[in-house]
Amino acid sequence: MNRPSNLTRREFLRLSGLGLGGLAVSSLLSACGLTLEPDTLVPLGSTAAPASGLATPSSTGELVEISLRAARASYDILPGGKTRVWQYQASLLQGPPASLQTLPDSYLGPILRLRRGQMLKVHFENQINEPSIIHWHGLSVPDEMDGHPRHAIEHGQSYTYEFPILNRAGTYWFHPHPHQRTGPQVYYGLAGLLIVSDDEEAALGLPAGDFDLPLVIQDRIFDSQNQLDYAANPMTGFFGDQILVNGQVDYILEAAAAPYRLRLLNGSNARIYKLAWDDGAPLTVIATDGGLLEKPVERDYVTLAPGERAELYADFSADPVGTQRSLVSLAFEGRGGGMGGMMGGSAAGLPQGTKMDILRSKITRAGQAGPGLPERLSAPGFFAVQDAVNARRPRRFDLTMHMAGLINGRTFEMESVASDEVVRLGDLEVWEFANLGGGGMSMMGGSDQPHPMHIHNVQFQVLERRLEGGLPRAYNTLSDGFVDSGWKDTVLVMPGEAVRLLVKFDHYVGLYLYHCHNLEHEDGGMMRNYRVESRG
Ligand code: C2O
Ligand code: CU
Ligand code: CU
Repeated sequence: MNRPSNLTRREFLRLSGLGLGGLAVSSLLSACGLTLEPDTLVPLGSTAAPASGLATPSSTGELVEISLRAARASYDILPGGKTRVWQYQASLLQGPPASLQTLPDSYLGPILRLRRGQMLKVHFENQINEPSIIHWHGLSVPDEMDGHPRHAIEHGQSYTYEFPILNRAGTYWFHPHPHQRTGPQVYYGLAGLLIVSDDEEAALGLPAGDFDLPLVIQDRIFDSQNQLDYAANPMTGFFGDQILVNGQVDYILEAAAAPYRLRLLNGSNARIYKLAWDDGAPLTVIATDGGLLEKPVERDYVTLAPGERAELYADFSADPVGTQRSLVSLAFEGRGGGMGGMMGGSAAGLPQGTKMDILRSKITRAGQAGPGLPERLSAPGFFAVQDAVNARRPRRFDLTMHMAGLINGRTFEMESVASDEVVRLGDLEVWEFANLGGGGMSMMGGSDQPHPMHIHNVQFQVLERRLEGGLPRAYNTLSDGFVDSGWKDTVLVMPGEAVRLLVKFDHYVGLYLYHCHNLEHEDGGMMRNYRVESRG
């Protein structure tokens, strides 16, 4: 595969611990975070407040208004009979026609294509026979707009969302978030992409239109009647035996001999992917959860945990017509190596770490080489070194499994916030997620589960990863695939690992969630509220 030649290899930064000396925070951190454009920000409702030090917003952006319902549907996914699913179905009420794009022949929800600064208004109608609510994963929105389970609505009810798009250009997504039913609702089909663009991104001339391909990766099990079988193990999560990309099995990416932007979302409940081309060509990563990296990075494989996104620049322009290759998920040591391994996967699914084919690409026609990938992609606006140093001592969260996942020994409670879960608007903090198993490895209480930890309402920087649990062999089967040099909202914390993040609580006060994005862990209670309070 043709690719830019002068990329620096291994941009993976292992920063020495804050307060431990040798702070090599380097060029990763500069300037300030997610900045607001004062002329496009609109605070909403009583809980909305502009972050400290920012000008008061003055006007509204262009309105994009859609109606979106969660409903029953059925699709031809496998030969021999339709599969019943739940689906987000949308129509555009106002705004540019390109704001709403449906995936043909797919149960997946529509793709919302928005610009930073627009106002999004969504009339959500719940037509499935259980409570639901929509969460906008990765976006910063007022707390009543965030899809907290306390806002779940019954069948037949509706909920109106309205918020400005504050985030940078990037690949975000939306999915249900009712308490204890997020896993099954996503599994049966409720998920969609929300793609944001902005001026900085537009200036790059990245592959667009037909050359900008969203690829949502999920694993499923079909029964003999072609119906989705959700047999989830609460300890390990759901594992399927079949990969779907954009809702289709045996996905074939028919491409021109040209550069592509591939937007990957791991929309699976619990499966982690170790993505690589089968011909050994490296992957060029240009974006993570919160948008474009400062510079492209290359990886032999990319690790993508549930909820995470990665964007690839895949240049097929030197490939002769007829070239085929597969994107695969390579085998890795998916469990800590302890006895818990025996519990990996549901009855019929393939365990975490099993090698699986994801999709096949075929060059079917000639194409244009394009302008090439710029060496510098964006000014990510990372937090300043000085701010990182000044941030308070880490706020630590211990991740444990005792029949179900716990965070600092606690399970989810709908309204409550512990005293160590209160932050102040505008504060920059260091958060540490420690997956150390409460002091040992054991079958039920040990640290043999990976936890993709997600924080609502923010994009954060990964500062440091420390392996303390003594499982380097297993860890090393995945760790070269982490891309930590961009904005993230979900970070994989492996068994034995402690990960430190730099996170700033901007934009809004209110009640938000942080949780494991293994959806069965989340539904089992590995989720907590945190509250952003105004200063003074
Ligand atoms: Cu995508 Cu609270 O999650
Ligand atoms: Cu989220
Ligand atoms: Cu978990």
